[in-house]
Amino acid sequence: MKDKVLSFLRKQEGFISGEEISREFSISRAAIWKHINQLKKEGYKILAVPHLGYKLESGPDRLTPQEVSYQLDTKLLGKKIYYYAQTSSTMDEAMRLSLEGAPEGTLILAEAQTKGRGRLGRDWYSPKAKGIYLSTILRPKILPNETPKLTLMVAVACAQAINRITGLHVTIKWPNDLLIKERKLGGILTELNAEADSVKFVVIGIGINVNNPRSSLPAKATSLKEEINETVPRIELLKRILIEIERCYLVFQKEGFGPILEQWRQLSSMLGTRIRVNYKKEHIEGVAIDVDMDGSLLVRKDSGFIERVIAGDIARAR
Ligand code: BTN
Repeated sequence: MKDKVLSFLRKQEGFISGEEISREFSISRAAIWKHINQLKKEGYKILAVPHLGYKLESGPDRLTPQEVSYQLDTKLLGKKIYYYAQTSSTMDEAMRLSLEGAPEGTLILAEAQTKGRGRLGRDWYSPKAKGIYLSTILRPKILPNETPKLTLMVAVACAQAINRITGLHVTIKWPNDLLIKERKLGGILTELNAEADSVKFVVIGIGINVNNPRSSLPAKATSLKEEINETVPRIELLKRILIEIERCYLVFQKEGFGPILEQWRQLSSMLGTRIRVNYKKEHIEGVAIDVDMDGSLLVRKDSGFIERVIAGDIARAR
């Protein structure tokens, strides 16, 4: 009932009297008052003025299923949402839910993670309500070695969503770092469950520094708030990310990876430049000439030999 009262308040342009709300739902005004108080406790700002009634002013800055699904214009992503005020990692939850049969598009959100993880065994710092930490489950009909395409696809979608909401130009550093002026803003982590010739499911995790103050960020990292000097509405950004991922995923399913790769190239921060690839104890230096249809990076070494890189970190070579 509380959720129904909230939806009803959302629809109103101005004040709505307690009497009208109680008539709408055939419940007492005392019951309405109880629900309104509960909503206030959850962080909704609701004006209550004698003789006028109630007016919803704003919602909490929390990525609750209710806030995220409100007018969310997607058909697949976020149709089912799991929300955690705190969890170890949304990847763990997503893996568990996938194995239990959660449908494609299921979304797992957390306000904070105690063991957020990044690529190559790194930690992902996930302070409460500052960033966006999500995992989503996809069940694509692809071969296991094609999953890097999905990582690149999600990086493109995130860069476009951030641009739409903040106006900032985000670039992508292969394979999945989201950068603003060479500082890391976010990253994408893909984990999969597959048999030899087919993918059962893919979990894609996204971490974005949204309203983190610079003082709390690792060196060489940034947040959206630091870049535009304004608090960024996380819910709006999250919804846009879901819309863009779904749009790209549809393109991927209908037209293949080609159009996505083209967009990735446009957003890439290092194609055409001299780079160094570090992977465990190996290093390669050369010019990053392209990304291949399977998502691997092609590096032309000084010998002229073109190396295909499937994992690692890249940095500008001096
Ligand atoms: C990277 O750049 O190395 C990838 C970082 C991915 C972080 C996100 S936050 C949500 C999801 N849960 C995790 O534990 N990791 C991913």
